[in-house]
Amino acid sequence: MVQAVPTGNNNEAIMAIQRVGVMGAGTMGNGIAHVLARSGFSVVLCDVEERFLDRGLQTIAKNLDREVAKSKITAEDKASTLKRITAVVDRTKLVDCDLVVEAATEKFAIKAEIFRDLDRITRPDVILASNTSSISITKIGALTERADKVIGMHFFNPVPVMKLVEVIRGLATSQATFDTVREMAVKLEKTPVEVNDAPGFVSNRVLMPLLNEAMYAVMENVATAEAVDEVFKLGMAHPMGPLTLADFIGLDVCLDIMRVLQDGLGDPKYRPCPLLIKMVDAGWLGRKTGRGFYTYQ
Ligand code: 3HC
Repeated sequence: MVQAVPTGNNNEAIMAIQRVGVMGAGTMGNGIAHVLARSGFSVVLCDVEERFLDRGLQTIAKNLDREVAKSKITAEDKASTLKRITAVVDRTKLVDCDLVVEAATEKFAIKAEIFRDLDRITRPDVILASNTSSISITKIGALTERADKVIGMHFFNPVPVMKLVEVIRGLATSQATFDTVREMAVKLEKTPVEVNDAPGFVSNRVLMPLLNEAMYAVMENVATAEAVDEVFKLGMAHPMGPLTLADFIGLDVCLDIMRVLQDGLGDPKYRPCPLLIKMVDAGWLGRKTGRGFYTYQ
């Protein structure tokens, strides 16, 4: 079902893509805008409020600074990358985009509203990709008049660093759409991996139950969060332990994904950990709110 994808040849379609829209300037959206602009694409970054755009642009500038500091890019590259990004609140400004990547909140109702709008706003030949971490691409595609051009393009946080793009085919996604998006990922210096549409795809179907189980271990006093993380860092060479990673991803996002797995697969093994539910109810969402399994300055 899943295989590493060799790069193919779909030059015409990929050459036609110059201007790319990104819906959502949050963690994933600003990372996606960063890699697109760094690879030479003109980017229209769209969010619902100026302050989200400002924060996204600041994060991009800060992350480009890291790359300058490590001599991966020059200061001129940083300046030209930032220049290629136009920030907009008005969605209709995506009208002349040749591809749009949606990276909004992980809620079906929000994505549904965005895809219906994008379907009206953009040219009918434009591919609409979603960075959803678990919602059905088939279901998103069915909201549009171009289900053959709707596809999953799932990036990983931090986007400028992580090499993987899970490329998810919905039931109606065409081969041409798949080929274009696969080559697009290669152009962004990422490695595309082909996955069929299923709850959580591969990444989150396997990762989230691991994080959820680590939370059960803490809830049941098997060990502290620190101890659980040490086990995975030192015993399995994970760069971050599962609870640090859950805080990094966002506990609300983890809970949303567990619910998609539970609803979509129906197996009780996907039951979200009660401690996770309680922490989300408390507003302890991890790094972004300063408190999760750990506290952050
Ligand atoms: N932008 C650009 N560069 C960044 C960056 C960012 N946001 N964050 C880190 N970097 C760079 C650093 O500059 C550094 O570069 P170097 O290798 O040239 O020195 C490199 O990445 C490593 O960073 P640090 O030295 O600061 O810190 P670490 O060595 O601790 O690595 C990490 C940080 C890359 C985040 C590492 O801890 C890691 O790989 N963690 C796991 C991340 C992970 O699993 N992500 C997937 C989450 S799941 C997901 O996104 C899917 C969703 O659907 C839930």
